[in-house]
Amino acid sequence: MRLNKYIASAGVCSRRKADELIVNGNVKINGSVCCKLGMDVSEDDVVSVNGRVINGEKKRVYFALNKPAGYITSMDDEKGRPAVSELVSDITDRVFPVGRLDYNTTGLLIMTNDGDVANRMAHPSGEVYKTYVAEVEGVVSSRRIDRLRKGVDIGGWITAPAKVRLIKQKPKSAVLEISIREGKNRQVRKMCAAVGNRVQKLERISIGEIRLGRLKEGHYRKLTREEIDYLKSL
Ligand code: URA
Repeated sequence: MRLNKYIASAGVCSRRKADELIVNGNVKINGSVCCKLGMDVSEDDVVSVNGRVINGEKKRVYFALNKPAGYITSMDDEKGRPAVSELVSDITDRVFPVGRLDYNTTGLLIMTNDGDVANRMAHPSGEVYKTYVAEVEGVVSSRRIDRLRKGVDIGGWITAPAKVRLIKQKPKSAVLEISIREGKNRQVRKMCAAVGNRVQKLERISIGEIRLGRLKEGHYRKLTREEIDYLKSL
């Protein structure tokens, strides 16, 4: 099996992240550092990542977490900020987040030890819509909604067509539902800023067919069989 696939199947991280670990010299095969991509390993090889021996083919677990604001989407943070790992510390399997939410964004984050699913979701074939509810400053005209739908320049990148719906217009702010298939850094915030409506609050309410529902902030739940099958079908 390819080394990156082996690391992902052991639930350490996605295949892409595994490639980074390999190139950075964090991976050893039978005690020797392996920095080369594309290496094959067999069942008899002993693979370690950051000094810890890993075993391929672990039991897969899948959770939906409602990330609160003020947490970094990572298993630890060099700057000592709270990390989502603290919210899942009682899960015995070592799970990691699929994709990212900004420090101040709340909502649905999938946590798993299935590196293959994480890998596929990180490189979606453009099919999975991620839906956000954005509270924005000011008045959102229908012209601005149209621009958001068609694509806006977020600093050298024109966003792909998006689904955008005005949920509520208040005197000085508005609530929008925005579904995007891309995942550029701070994309929704940048899109709204590009049309002149700064985001005040942002929540992800769904990833494809997986919905946040009534899950409380800081809480997690197991994904259902149907949700897991859906993830695997992507
Ligand atoms: N878009 C953003 O601006 N922030 C997120 O966390 C996710 C999408």
